[in-house]
Amino acid sequence: MAAELSPIDKAKFLAAKRAVGYVENGMKLGLGTGSTAAWMVRCLAERVREEGLRVTGVPTSSRTAELARSLGIPVTSLDEARWLDLTIDGADEFDPELNLIKGGGAALLQEKIVATASDQMIVIADAAKEVAQLGAFPLPVEVIPFGWQTTKALIEELLQSMDVMARECSLRMNGDAPLITDEANYIIDLHLKRIGNPRQLALVLNQIPGVVENGLFIDICDIVVIGHPDGRVIVRDINSGETADERVEFAPSDNIFADLGD
Ligand code: A5P
Repeated sequence: MAAELSPIDKAKFLAAKRAVGYVENGMKLGLGTGSTAAWMVRCLAERVREEGLRVTGVPTSSRTAELARSLGIPVTSLDEARWLDLTIDGADEFDPELNLIKGGGAALLQEKIVATASDQMIVIADAAKEVAQLGAFPLPVEVIPFGWQTTKALIEELLQSMDVMARECSLRMNGDAPLITDEANYIIDLHLKRIGNPRQLALVLNQIPGVVENGLFIDICDIVVIGHPDGRVIVRDINSGETADERVEFAPSDNIFADLGD
């Protein structure tokens, strides 16, 4: 079955498997959203099944909650858990300081709340997510539906004074209608090409009335685990400054591949 996976899925799977090695008995865990995070949920479920690992997951989206429950991982709300030991999530881009763009899967609001409420955040990614400077991936901004066109105009005005390479903004659609997030908001994608000062942009975007949150994660991620299709896994820890070059066995049980829904 493993041989049927695409190289990118192998890379995502290996990053996820390595990151799940950080999970210890009794931990409260933030469960990310997206295709890489879905691999993490499957790897975690395997440890729960095979080792009797006891964990409680706080999902960052309805999709992840559904997947975790279906695989037998106990889940609860953040309000119930209050504070988490670790969050493992994917990213759309990460830079050398481990600042991130997230929200390609429209779950940035819950993802940011959950990651911020965690002692540690580990990002799992394939090598294509690594960039010298953030911004090639459109930056998602979650806005409330009320007056969204005014909010979009205010974002466009703000961008005139920001160090970015392009300034196009678009409402994310789901077919013919605006995409609705789990928190019943809209997403405006900012096509910036290059973000010169992500820290400043993250702060000022959130000053605009109508903006709920933006997809820049600044000083939140502690460790990035980068998977490669050939079994190489790079683990970079921003706090210790250490980078480890490891190999992870590609020997998943059939159970992991039984449910490939994201
Ligand atoms: C979800 O809103 C996002 O933040 C995802 O974590 C991000 O888009 C990465 O997704 P993939 O793992 O599917 O690339």
